[in-house]
Amino acid sequence: MNILVTGGAGYIGSHTCVQLLDAGHKVVIFDNFCNSHSNVISRIEKIAGKKVKLYVGDIRDKSVLERIFCENQIDAVIHFAGLKSVSESVKSPLIYYDNNVMGAVALCLAMQKFNVRRLIFSSSATVYGTAAEAPYDESMPTGSVCNPYGRTKYFIEEILKDIFAADPAWYITILRYFNPIGAHENALLGEDPCGIPNNIMPYISQVAAKKLPLLTVFGNDYNTHDGTCVRDYIHVVDLANGHLKALEKMVHNNGGFNIYNLGTGKGYSVLELIRAFEKVSGQKINYKIGPRRAGDLPIVFADTKKAEKDLGFKAKFGIEKMCTDTWNWQKNN
Ligand code: NAD
Ligand code: UFG
Repeated sequence: MNILVTGGAGYIGSHTCVQLLDAGHKVVIFDNFCNSHSNVISRIEKIAGKKVKLYVGDIRDKSVLERIFCENQIDAVIHFAGLKSVSESVKSPLIYYDNNVMGAVALCLAMQKFNVRRLIFSSSATVYGTAAEAPYDESMPTGSVCNPYGRTKYFIEEILKDIFAADPAWYITILRYFNPIGAHENALLGEDPCGIPNNIMPYISQVAAKKLPLLTVFGNDYNTHDGTCVRDYIHVVDLANGHLKALEKMVHNNGGFNIYNLGTGKGYSVLELIRAFEKVSGQKINYKIGPRRAGDLPIVFADTKKAEKDLGFKAKFGIEKMCTDTWNWQKNN
């Protein structure tokens, strides 16, 4: 198939492009490089040994979008493009609603116009918010989200439900990611956040590399086994594979609207993650315990049964492999 990958130069998109190419698909990447580097394209091509077609532009730009659909016979779209910083979204909500929500609407309008109706959308476990408790399954209520970034994901999910309700000829799959970490094992692709990282894994690896002096652990008074927050970390290569499984299922099925969690189903605390990283890297991670971060939930992990049963998706890599690949990526970049 010919797959349009929006945000294909980003962290999760780039790993997914490699797997799409490996599986024999053609890939068209559409990215404005607002949070990625253009050299990622040649790295994807180097790993896969195949070429991708690149369009540089913004998903809200109707003229480029329509040009892509005119110039390419697109069979399905995987929509990664979006902004993802929770803290930035609190400071600049309109930028997030404009980029993420308006971007998704512009994409769907163009797809509808060119009669391309297969869409996989990157959502987040954050949509479960505070209304339910881990393990989260796909039938649980969503929407009680406490930041604008998370609400963009929730709103887009609702928009996609409406699109499908109005026209069941669409095939729409929403993937709710838990916490992606890790990197490609050859260290050519990984997460490279601009400025000081918000997320735990790039923060830990930059402390290990002595780029940052000290990690602050946000709270050790939660009701968890060691007091620090528990998350479901999933290797980005496993996560990318989940997209291939979702694509296969979409094509071989009679379509429809589906939602799947992509996680491992296992939770690790912040202190456990630090220890796992120290073990594989041989580096001491300097950290101090600080106050809780507003909006953090104590325990987040997935119920993975639906993705396992319907997609045959099961994460392969454990926490040590996630840390090893992150550390190799950090050292080589
Ligand atoms: P990323 O920032 O590395 O990748 C996003 C890509 O989209 C970047 O290459 C960026 O340049 C591009 N982009 C952003 N806005 C664009 C626009 N308007 N037009 C064209 N390109 C644009 O992020 P990621 O970690 O790879 O995340 C991919 C998707 O998964 C995002 O939608 C994100 O919200 C979602 N997600 C990520 C996580 C996570 O922890 N990484 C968790 C849940 C969901
Ligand atoms: N943490 C620290 N210190 C840091 C950074 C994080 O202790 O410097 C802790 C947090 O308090 C949390 C855990 O590490 O307990 C994980 O935090 P991240 O910021 O890495 O990830 P979150 O679980 O907060 O959020 C991530 C993505 C969101 C996504 C969500 C889905 O950033 O985009 O997972 O669960 F929506």
